[in-house]
Amino acid sequence: MDRTFLLIKPSAVSAGNVGGIISCLEDAGFAIAALTMKTMSREEAARFYDVHAGKEFYEPLMDYMTSGPTVGMLLEAEDAIAALRRTVGATDPAQAAEGTIRARYGRTVRQNAVHASDSPERVEHEADIYFGTDGTEAA
Ligand code: CDP
Ligand code: MG
Repeated sequence: MDRTFLLIKPSAVSAGNVGGIISCLEDAGFAIAALTMKTMSREEAARFYDVHAGKEFYEPLMDYMTSGPTVGMLLEAEDAIAALRRTVGATDPAQAAEGTIRARYGRTVRQNAVHASDSPERVEHEADIYFGTDGTEAA
């Protein structure tokens, strides 16, 4: 089984959507291998979104991502990274396919409910911020 990393963003946690999002993930066939709640520091958010440093949306994204608790998860499934990106949907909730997590729970391009890793290297990088390892020891 492959693993990937999913983050429930602050707006979805504060809206009470953690349970709904976890149900979507389990219904889509993902098994939860590890889960933790964390309010990211500025330094952690900067590491998490290092690939977007310097972009026009970077500073407001840092403010948003550090604004409250988030939930990080390691998920297992066949072809987990691509399968999760499909389950999550497009970055802009207005463009996300019906039934995807972002279509159901996203509010705006920034407050789009969840993050999903897009490569094995990013799974390792992002899981390290949440679990302090690549996740292979977690759970
Ligand atoms: O999350 P995803 O990989 O689908 O999108 P991205 O292009 O890698 O952007 C990362 C995150 O930055 C998005 O999920 C949004 O939360 C945020 N973003 C933003 O605030 N404003 C934009 N114009 C684009 C992205
Ligand atoms: Mg991305």
